Amino acid sequence: MKIGALGETFEGENRVAMTPDSALQLQKLGHVCVIQSGAGLKAGFTDAAYTAAGVEVLPNAAAVAAAADVLVKVRGPDAEEAKLLKSGQTLISFFWPAQNEALLKQLAGQGATVIAMDMVPRISRAQKMDALSSMANLAGYRAVIEAANNFPRFFTGQVTAAGKVPPAKVLVVGAGVAGLAAIGASVSLGAITYAFDVRPEVAEQINSMGAEFVYLDFAESQTDGAATGGYAAPSSPEFREAQLKKFRELAPEMDIVITTALIPGRPAPKLWTEDMVAMMKRGSVIVDLAAERGGNCDLTVPDQKIVTDNGVTIVGYTDFPSRMATQASTLYSNNIRHMLADLTPKKDGVIDQNMGDDVIRGATVAHGGDVTWPPPPPKIAAIAAQKPKEKAKELTPEERRAKEVAEFKAQTRNQVGLLAIGGGLLLVAGYFAPASFMSHFIVFVLSCFVGFQVIWNVSHSLHTPLMAITNAISSIIILGALLQIGSGNWLVIVLAALSVLMAGVNIFGGFMVTRRMLAMFQKS
Ligand code: NAI
Repeated sequence: MKIGALGETFEGENRVAMTPDSALQLQKLGHVCVIQSGAGLKAGFTDAAYTAAGVEVLPNAAAVAAAADVLVKVRGPDAEEAKLLKSGQTLISFFWPAQNEALLKQLAGQGATVIAMDMVPRISRAQKMDALSSMANLAGYRAVIEAANNFPRFFTGQVTAAGKVPPAKVLVVGAGVAGLAAIGASVSLGAITYAFDVRPEVAEQINSMGAEFVYLDFAESQTDGAATGGYAAPSSPEFREAQLKKFRELAPEMDIVITTALIPGRPAPKLWTEDMVAMMKRGSVIVDLAAERGGNCDLTVPDQKIVTDNGVTIVGYTDFPSRMATQASTLYSNNIRHMLADLTPKKDGVIDQNMGDDVIRGATVAHGGDVTWPPPPPKIAAIAAQKPKEKAKELTPEERRAKEVAEFKAQTRNQVGLLAIGGGLLLVAGYFAPASFMSHFIVFVLSCFVGFQVIWNVSHSLHTPLMAITNAISSIIILGALLQIGSGNWLVIVLAALSVLMAGVNIFGGFMVTRRMLAMFQKS
């Protein structure tokens, strides 16, 4: 099939849906690629680079639309581009079907298939096509850079001859994809980073990234992302009040606030109110990533940077990924390429619009003349729902002692039973086998028993390092080889030298692997 990339017509959009690299990958799937002249220029990809990658450069959008079977874009089509779509043609782009129902009906009526990259379900298998996540990741990173650019101080604390500088304090509200990227960037710049999310399960992730999870003094355990396709569900008014109370406590302390809170299909919740902005220090910065959906901050103006009367800068840009167009295009074109790989399972350049596939079905919003949005819920739950751990029943000291005694008795009974069976079997073997065999056999059985007991008590996560160290120790073989190396026969010498070499690799390799693995368990 011919895959054609159109240039972006939206003012200020610098990204492109096909890069020379992604075109090479698409060609490996059996497709032929064409692109509109100049489409990649703002993202740093020249026509010459596309030509070198075997992509045909066509003069305008009409020529691309006429030539291609599948059109790829970043933003949804404008009115002119929509008219170009023919029956049987496929469009892959961001589409936002809920906001563009009329356009969706029009394209379905024209017989086009529309695959909306914003509708890719958030399931593990679809991560490589999840353009929302790849763009949010960029936006989170860029939000920190933008904040740093507008913040009149260092992020990291410093002690210099000229004076002591305290580290900046950053609060990230909403620890989804963008939030976690922002936390990562903020921590790496040296700021003291706090984060809040309504999903308690992210607390561990936040802490592991070096930030501090802000806990609320509130009984209701927030929401379960697994039940809502990997997204949060709206929280109760009481919860919101508790949240705002906490934010009011934090506001005077925070230098930078990055808000990313959103529940898909809803306007952004107002979480950083006017009075909180008023409490912030002069020079503080708020970056509101949810600006496009109304903003998490009361004072955010979408697409603009404003400075309040008390000197707080509020950044409401909605085009962060486009501000990093080369990186964003690389990631987005990879998402598109993966989507096309799923649509071309035989790698023969033939698109198979398999509506039985969860990911393809979820993202396809128009097909065969019909609007196919909204899709049925995916068969696989977004995140395997974690069963709430059963709370252990509180036991009295007597009950606990009785339980321990019962457990000990059961364990002893098992061990005595096993020993009796083992002893019996040994006696039977001893009756028939020669004495020399029995002495080796008993050593073998005992070593199995001791080895088993030792390994059984090691935590599962340490089994691999344990294997590596066992590997090193088992290279005791080197002793035999060393004894033989002084032999007069050259063949024995060569074999012994080889054994020393291999056992050496085994020993040093085993210890190195063990060290590296154990390092993974150590907190830096
Ligand atoms: P996400 O769904 O992965 O994360 C949103 C997070 O907000 C979730 O963890 C959710 O639990 C949390 N949340 C929801 N309600 C909350 C509340 N009341 N309090 C605290 N946390 C709450 O979304 P993702 O992909 O990280 O995107 C975040 C935001 O960034 C979205 O608004 C998205 O539109 C925006 N975005 C903005 C861009 C820009 O250029 N400005 C570019 C890309 C994304």
